[in-house]
Amino acid sequence: MLVDLVLVAFWAMLPAYVPNNVAVLAGGGAPIDGGRTLGGRRLLGDGKTWRGTAFGTLAGALLAQGLNLLAPTVTAQTGVSVPVFPLAAAIGLALGAMLGDIAASFVKRRTGRQRGAAFPGVDQLDFVVGALACAAVLDLGWFLTTFTLPVLGVVIVLTPVLHLLTNGIAFALGLKDEPY
Ligand code: CTP
Ligand code: MG
Repeated sequence: MLVDLVLVAFWAMLPAYVPNNVAVLAGGGAPIDGGRTLGGRRLLGDGKTWRGTAFGTLAGALLAQGLNLLAPTVTAQTGVSVPVFPLAAAIGLALGAMLGDIAASFVKRRTGRQRGAAFPGVDQLDFVVGALACAAVLDLGWFLTTFTLPVLGVVIVLTPVLHLLTNGIAFALGLKDEPY
């Protein structure tokens, strides 16, 4: 059932969805690159901070623990067995989401894009690639049983839609400078 797949995909990705949004709220302070440049351009830029990254990662990993508490009830009520996150998977998803976004900023700066410039496609999926890769590295067994091909398919279609929606809301609320 498609609805079941969407629920599983959304649930499995929540610990990766939340970090970027928390980083927007918690961001500020020292940039990770310490102001360093490469070829005349910032390594990452002022948009990637230690504080945003730390709080984002923590929030995603904690959220996974909260979801674990709810999982039995949700599974019983809906008949869909939602994934439970081992700690390594939770950390992998949350930290990986942040690292994917950081890696994208590195590529953006190398390609001459200023902080905040849009990079269509990359902006919407960088954190998905990072989250999935890190989760796979930290807990391959969990990754393979959770992200089956149909679930992966839903993740790849659903994520850009959700990302544009949440960033649009954050922009409208004045929390974010660009709606992407
Ligand atoms: N943020 C942060 N640390 C991160 C990611 C995000 O502090 N690791 C905060 C920053 O305040 C950033 C905001 O969240 O400005 C929005 O994130 P994002 O859109 O990813 O950064 P941009 O400022 O657009 O910079 P870039 O062009 O490098 O993506
Ligand atoms: Mg941006």
